[in-house]
Amino acid sequence: MTPTLTSRLPGVGTTIFTVMSRLAQEHRAINLAQGFPSFEPPARLRELVARHALEGPNQYAPMSGWPALCEAIAHKAERLYGRRVSPDREVTVTCGGTEALSCAIQAVVHPGDEVVLLDPAYDSYEPIARLCGGVVRHVPLARPGFGIDWQRLADALTERTRLLVVNTPHNPTGACLAAADLGRLAELLRPTRAFLLSDEVYEHMVFDGARHASVLSHPELAARAFVVSSFGKTYHATGWKIGYCIAPPPLTAELRKLHQYVTFSIATPLQRALADFMVEHPEWEQELPAFYQERRDRLGALLAGSRLRLEPARATYFQLVDYSAVSTAKDTDFAAELIRRAGVVTIPVSPFCEAPPEERLLRLCFAKDDDVLEAAAERLRAL
Ligand SMILES: Cc1ncc(COP(=O)(O)O)c(C=O)c1O
Repeated sequence: MTPTLTSRLPGVGTTIFTVMSRLAQEHRAINLAQGFPSFEPPARLRELVARHALEGPNQYAPMSGWPALCEAIAHKAERLYGRRVSPDREVTVTCGGTEALSCAIQAVVHPGDEVVLLDPAYDSYEPIARLCGGVVRHVPLARPGFGIDWQRLADALTERTRLLVVNTPHNPTGACLAAADLGRLAELLRPTRAFLLSDEVYEHMVFDGARHASVLSHPELAARAFVVSSFGKTYHATGWKIGYCIAPPPLTAELRKLHQYVTFSIATPLQRALADFMVEHPEWEQELPAFYQERRDRLGALLAGSRLRLEPARATYFQLVDYSAVSTAKDTDFAAELIRRAGVVTIPVSPFCEAPPEERLLRLCFAKDDDVLEAAAERLRAL
């Protein structure tokens, strides 16, 4: 008998990032779509990776992470966010932020549990929640500014809510939560039995003198939270797929049950190199905001004469632009048109939302070299 395949994720196609990057290649267009830098990781870090690969060991790292890397992560959590975490019991090194997100969701969501997402929501959360039998509730972020709509969030949190996912700094809008927002979040979650998953992969890209308000800096929230970060984002090394999750010991124990059967452990030379680099160059992450802010400002200046309206970009390496002066087409159609008409690939915002936004918005990634930004902006100015 021929087996019939029944999809466990009906309705899920290939992620918009892969679709748009493929189109960029096909049309030889400028890719401002997928969120990866066009520059390399620091030379010293690459040198350390090479050295550790040459000298070994090159065998399995411990399941939860290379001890020196877990210590460096714990040290960072204390230095930046004032939270003391146990490197052994609260830190897990994962295959990118993606694996950490997936394992965290699977660790807590049972069939029928409700999972609350704030739209636009990064596209990996919902499919995993659904695989677990979770029921996803979408709460749109407030306009203008893409802050949390506190009333709508309060209404969405019920006794059935098992997980709230927040993403700060936020992809795709470039918004970020302030310290005061964490207090309000704690008040809302206090009477619930919901865990919190805080996706903070852009933690080191917050601009204009503001500071990243990590859930780790809020003891009450941290006590019920998985906090996820990505070395790929921080060190311009998205292709290495290495990140981590910090969570209290009982949550970490459950997360590791998944992690051990998903990847078991992460490339040893990468972990050892990152551990060395974090100790040698703690200033790296402090310099990152200025580095990206300059790029944001450069793109802003280059687009100044265009008919695109720039949304405030307070964090991440993304810039939202409103194209309503150029076209009334919906964002997915206009993004496709832009590839043909201008040879620039962007990301539409509606695939991140349950209900398409009223605005006409596209996301541009400015983690690109000057010549790329200049060439893209010249084409966009001609619209
Ligand atoms: C909001 C958000 N979370 C998680 C990730 C995944 O991070 P990683 O590449 O480390 O898996 C990304 C990558 O684009 C992201 O934008």
